[in-house]
Amino acid sequence: MTVEGKENVTRDIVITGVALLLQGLTSYYFSSKCCESSSLSNDGSVDAALSKSMEPDPSTPFESFGFGLNVEVDFMWIDRINEGAGSAAYSSEPRLCLKPMGEIRLHPAATVLNYGQSLFEGMKAFRRVDGSIALFRPERNASRIKSGAARLLIPPIPENVFVKACNDLVRANAKWVPPYGKGALYLRPLLFGSGAALGVKPSTQYTFCIYCSPVGDYFKKGSDPKPIRLQAIEDYSRAAPGGVGSVKAAGNYAPCFKVQKEVKERGYDEALFLSVLGNGVIEEAGASNFFAVFPDNSIMTPSLGTILPGITRESVIELARNRFGCTVYERQLTLDDLKDASEAFCCGTGASITAVGSVNIASTEESIIFGEDGTTMGPLTKSIKESLLAIQMGTNAESNYSNWIHRIE
Ligand SMILES: Cc1ncc(COP(=O)(O)O)c(C=O)c1O
Repeated sequence: MTVEGKENVTRDIVITGVALLLQGLTSYYFSSKCCESSSLSNDGSVDAALSKSMEPDPSTPFESFGFGLNVEVDFMWIDRINEGAGSAAYSSEPRLCLKPMGEIRLHPAATVLNYGQSLFEGMKAFRRVDGSIALFRPERNASRIKSGAARLLIPPIPENVFVKACNDLVRANAKWVPPYGKGALYLRPLLFGSGAALGVKPSTQYTFCIYCSPVGDYFKKGSDPKPIRLQAIEDYSRAAPGGVGSVKAAGNYAPCFKVQKEVKERGYDEALFLSVLGNGVIEEAGASNFFAVFPDNSIMTPSLGTILPGITRESVIELARNRFGCTVYERQLTLDDLKDASEAFCCGTGASITAVGSVNIASTEESIIFGEDGTTMGPLTKSIKESLLAIQMGTNAESNYSNWIHRIE
């Protein structure tokens, strides 16, 4: 071989090597940052969606929607990172992470499917009275999913990345945020182990996904919803000390389905879960936190530990204390304590604030009724509910709590 021939071969080897390296880097990049490859080329539509009008879709019957997947929205957020990549690997770039709404790909050996390494969140984007769109305290959801990630050994999402992802997803789907008073856009962030492996161990890859759906207004205008009837359950429990009751782990929810089904079959609306420690110590009502109101203007709610630290709970405590002058006790609350209560309510993102009319104790068949006959919402429950809604909807001069509102930009 001539010297020139050798140089050509060397040059070809170098070119091929560089090409292979680039190809490898590109496929690594897309396998770690992107996912559903059939939907990768939507950059143009992402830009367009982020600059489109924020008006609600005029032809959608938002007022007829219940809590469900009522329409197929335009975009979901989806980002994948590899184990060991660290929290800085989560992207906040909408052009990489906003994908057309649709199915996601998973290997059957994905850790989430086999071992339940999975967290979720629930949030609402509201259209306010001035037509703007806002999320309610999204940084609190960011902080909660971070605590959950630490508990389930999932690389945490930086809080600013979480909030920006929620903001950009709502912005891209702005036409699906119902008009003022006709519901909200419900956001469901998910964070789970999506890597494939047989061994019982943390995942090799993690997916951060947010999907959303317009949902109906829980409180229909002009009518107070009827207080719900709870049944306190002693033979099943939801959480135990040292477990994961205080984080929004997906695995906390399926074990409640059977209990909730049985409670509904007996004619009640929701289960009131009690502590495994016995003595009728109250924990949570389904997927919401529980409060009891007493005639001396004090309110009581179970202390944190095995229950979910609800963002609505935290907001109610603040409003009750500082707006309504209540004494708030976060402590052990028992079924016996309820006998002295004048009102009770549960609260959460889905239901906002729901009055509780009665609590039936399954083991004794005794019922504790609130108010005259358990059919009307108590006055403090009503005031707190209206105050919270006014802050979320911007209907009053609620400047004290403007930092609870994240405006979508
Ligand atoms: C078990 C449980 N408790 C309480 C809540 C209320 O939490 P938040 O007010 O943050 O929606 C929820 C809802 O997410 C929940 O799933």
